[in-house]
Amino acid sequence: MDEARRGHADFLRTLSVLYVEDDAEVRGQLARFLERRVKRLVVADNGRLGLDAFRADHHDIVITDIKMPEMDGLQMAAHIKAASRDVPIIVITAYSDRDYLIRAIELGVNRYVTKPIDPDALVEAIYRAVEVRFQQEEIDRANRRVRDTLEQTVMAMARAIELRDPYTDGHQKRVALLAAAIAEDMGLALESIDGIRLGALIHDVGKIQVPTEILSKPGRLRDEERSIVRLHAKAGEELLGDIDFPWPIGQMVLHHHERLDGSGYPDGLKGNELTLETKIIAVADVVEAMSSHRPYRAALGLEAAIAELRQGSGHLYDSRVVDSCLRVLERQPELLKQP
Ligand SMILES: [Fe+2]
Ligand SMILES: [Fe+2]
Repeated sequence: MDEARRGHADFLRTLSVLYVEDDAEVRGQLARFLERRVKRLVVADNGRLGLDAFRADHHDIVITDIKMPEMDGLQMAAHIKAASRDVPIIVITAYSDRDYLIRAIELGVNRYVTKPIDPDALVEAIYRAVEVRFQQEEIDRANRRVRDTLEQTVMAMARAIELRDPYTDGHQKRVALLAAAIAEDMGLALESIDGIRLGALIHDVGKIQVPTEILSKPGRLRDEERSIVRLHAKAGEELLGDIDFPWPIGQMVLHHHERLDGSGYPDGLKGNELTLETKIIAVADVVEAMSSHRPYRAALGLEAAIAELRQGSGHLYDSRVVDSCLRVLERQPELLKQP
């Protein structure tokens, strides 16, 4: 057996297959052939029973005869494709079935094998029909690995800043929890929620460049000290500058202190110059910062944070983000208490 064939055979052994055929003899023969080669084989003797079997237990691939009593193979294929577009279907057909074949193509049937069935041709057809999905799964796995590594790197950066600056201990983590919950409440795609969570997790990473005496100074900061603290937004973006994240993390870090009316820093952006991600992190940051203890003041409390949000809604903070944040805090007030 050559390399490619062996690969195909291994792959076949991972599949759950539904095989639908009304002719008992043909069914018996092919079932015996398939049974030894796939992980699981379910047989049905007409389209109606085949559809029931598919609905009970989504199979990786469906192989079906066309002409059958009760419900033919194409009617069954139409139902299966309507419910699960991606499930490959192979039809087994005689040459006289040309009209059916055209319908099969219209229905999105992936492959056909002609009678009498050459078992090797069938194995090849199964492999070809499923390989696209197989390759996609490989790509997804690789992507997940890269994504996990990125997340771990970001977490390490977050821990580094928190070791140095105990007063923001947990701040970034809580902002990340709240920002992700807001994004979820706003119905954002999972992909964007992930980006927002990671951006929030290191939004203050630039504080690594602010002297600890300033970060941990009790009492009010002088103006020049405050301008040094303000440098952390730009410093954070510069620190992350070369990392090619799949999300605009650098931008989230750079702009988390911008405000809708242009009164924020460092760029004094206005309105829609701020991205949605930035607007979400900005709101989560303010709420967390106000409701927890700071070196220069005791915690102002959640009530004060909510009042600030209400007052600033629409001119400092995006009102949809504020509404979502209020809903989240109502639902999960414990969110800001987590370490
Ligand atoms: Fe900040
Ligand atoms: Fe912050």
